[in-house]
Amino acid sequence: MIDAFRELYGDTGHVRVFRAPGRVNLIGEHTDYNLGFVMPMALDLATCIGTAPASGGKLRIYSEQHKELREWPVTRLADAVRSGHWTDYPLGVARELIRAGYAIEPANMLIRSTVPEGSGLSSSAALEVASALALLQGRGIDKLELARLCQRSEVEFVGLPCGIMDQYISVFGRDHAAVRIDCRSLEHRAVALPDGIAFVAVNTMVKHALAGSAYRQRTEECTAAVEWIQSRIAGVESLRDVSPGEFTGIDHAMPPLIARRARHVVMENERVDRFVEATSRSDLPLMGELLVESHRSLQHDYEVSCPELDFLVDAALAIDGVLGSRMTGGGFGGCTVTVLRNGAAGHFATQIAKCYEARFGVTPKIYPCRPSAGAGELNNFENIPPAA
Ligand code: GLA
Repeated sequence: MIDAFRELYGDTGHVRVFRAPGRVNLIGEHTDYNLGFVMPMALDLATCIGTAPASGGKLRIYSEQHKELREWPVTRLADAVRSGHWTDYPLGVARELIRAGYAIEPANMLIRSTVPEGSGLSSSAALEVASALALLQGRGIDKLELARLCQRSEVEFVGLPCGIMDQYISVFGRDHAAVRIDCRSLEHRAVALPDGIAFVAVNTMVKHALAGSAYRQRTEECTAAVEWIQSRIAGVESLRDVSPGEFTGIDHAMPPLIARRARHVVMENERVDRFVEATSRSDLPLMGELLVESHRSLQHDYEVSCPELDFLVDAALAIDGVLGSRMTGGGFGGCTVTVLRNGAAGHFATQIAKCYEARFGVTPKIYPCRPSAGAGELNNFENIPPAA
């Protein structure tokens, strides 16, 4: 990567490399913007940015994935506007950093990423967080501020009203563990995963156009549900505040559509804690069951799945050694995550690819999910992914 950087920009002195991981969410889907609970893990799939200071007053960014070099005078970054291009992610972060009082210095950058785009493994958050670190050039920043700043950039610059999960886990990821995050208090704790199991992500290789608009619509439906509940239960500020017991006392009177949306969120929040419990007791069958329950709820109540995801889940459940499976991330395409017994992964990969190819004529990409540390500067160059 350093060689590629020098080839592009010349030998401009010391090149620093910053890395931010993608993630797979194990459970707690569409709960983050309802201020509830999520349990993702950071992956060893990551975005790395090599950077060195430059003369000439410009910020230059090259993306290996897009094979494209773009540049801007640093004095123009504060007024940058969205263009629907991959550069929205680093530009939005630059604008947020400036707003937060960090000056952006002229620099050259090269982006190399192994997080597949549009896969629901959070390539955007990985790019945002890596960009922020690269733009800061080693200046310190509070980790929570870093995650919030990147989320703000996605909401305000890119225009997706997302929660904080993806940016948070990219910053706070842990080696060897998943992380349970409370999206209201913004506290987290590491949850060690039992021995004897593996998590595998399978990519549908589709991202339906609906994804962005439906996401926004779900956030609005959740707001409508909160407004309806507020007139019945005191002190409810988000769906996080509604217990399953309280919900089943009122849901029959609720307009059916928002009742289904709210039911998913209320039950999913509870499922996160049941999953954490099951994990700590190494109750593998229950862990698997909870993943499937989560998927059914996303499929039927929240309606953010799609035929490709449903097919992958159903096909996975019929394969030996599989304990459970569900869609992961925002939905309408992207990946499923499957938990299976160690040793079953090889057979699973062959089988699931065969079924999916037979049904959709597309070969799904399969990623073993290894928990990895959160974002930071790399000084161990073995961690840098090779060029695609
Ligand atoms: C996307 C968003 C996250 C979260 C998930 C669904 O990944 O970026 O904030 O809402 O969808 O759980």
